[in-house]
Amino acid sequence: MIAPSILAADFARLAEAAAAVRGEPGSGADWLHVDVMDAHFVPNLTIGLPVVTSLRAATDLPLDCHLMIDDPDRWAVGYAEAGAHNVTVHVEAAKDPIALAKDLRAAGAKAGLSMKPGTPLEPHLDVLRHYDTLLVMSVEPGFGGQEFMPEVLDKVRTARRLVDTGHLTLLVEIDGGINTETVEAAAEAGVDCFVAGSAVYGADRPDAAVRAMREQIAA
Ligand code: DX5
Ligand code: ZN
Repeated sequence: MIAPSILAADFARLAEAAAAVRGEPGSGADWLHVDVMDAHFVPNLTIGLPVVTSLRAATDLPLDCHLMIDDPDRWAVGYAEAGAHNVTVHVEAAKDPIALAKDLRAAGAKAGLSMKPGTPLEPHLDVLRHYDTLLVMSVEPGFGGQEFMPEVLDKVRTARRLVDTGHLTLLVEIDGGINTETVEAAAEAGVDCFVAGSAVYGADRPDAAVRAMREQIAA
C-alpha cells in the first residue's frame, strides 16, 4: 500500500492534492497520509481537526492521520469522529495507549501506534497487541524531505517476524525519506504500507510517482 503525505503538497489546494494521487484504478494511492503537528511534540506546526473534517468531505481516499502531538489521549478520538480511517498516535506521547486504542476503535477508526527512530519496539509489545498499525518513523518526526534512516529497518524486520508468526496482528507502515531509491529496502524488510511526501508531491505527476514506487515494490 502507498500513502502519499500531503505535508509536501500545496496547503491551499489540498482537495486537488488528494485528486492528484488517484491515478488509474489499481495504480493510485491507497490512503492519504495527513501529518498533524502541534509545535510541542515536534518543533513544526501544520494542520488540525478542521482541515481533516474538510478533507474528509473532499476525497473518498481513506485518511491516515499521523498525530505528532502532545496529549493524544485528549485529541485523537476527535480525528476518528471526523472520519479518519486510521488514527496514529506516538507511543512517546500517549499516557494510556491501550485505553486510547480501544477508544479509537469504538469511534470507528483503526488505531495506529508510531515510534520515533530511537524508540525500541520490545518494551511496547503488550501495547501493540491492541493496535491495527505500527508506524515506524524512518526520520525524526517534524519535517518532510529528510534522508531515510536505514537503521530503523531492524525494527521493521522484528515487527514483520512477530506478525508472520502470529504474535502481533497489524500492518507495518514506514514514514520518512521513502522514494524510488529507498522503497525497495523497506519492502524487503517487510513493510506493508509506505508513506511518501516529497517523492510524490515534489514530482510533476504525483500519480506517476505513486505508480513508479509501486513498480519498485513489485520488482
Ligand atoms: C515527518 C512526517 C512524514 C513526512 C514524510 O515527520 O511524519 O509523514 O511527510 O515526508 P518525506 O516523504 O518527504 O520524508
Ligand atoms: Zn507522517
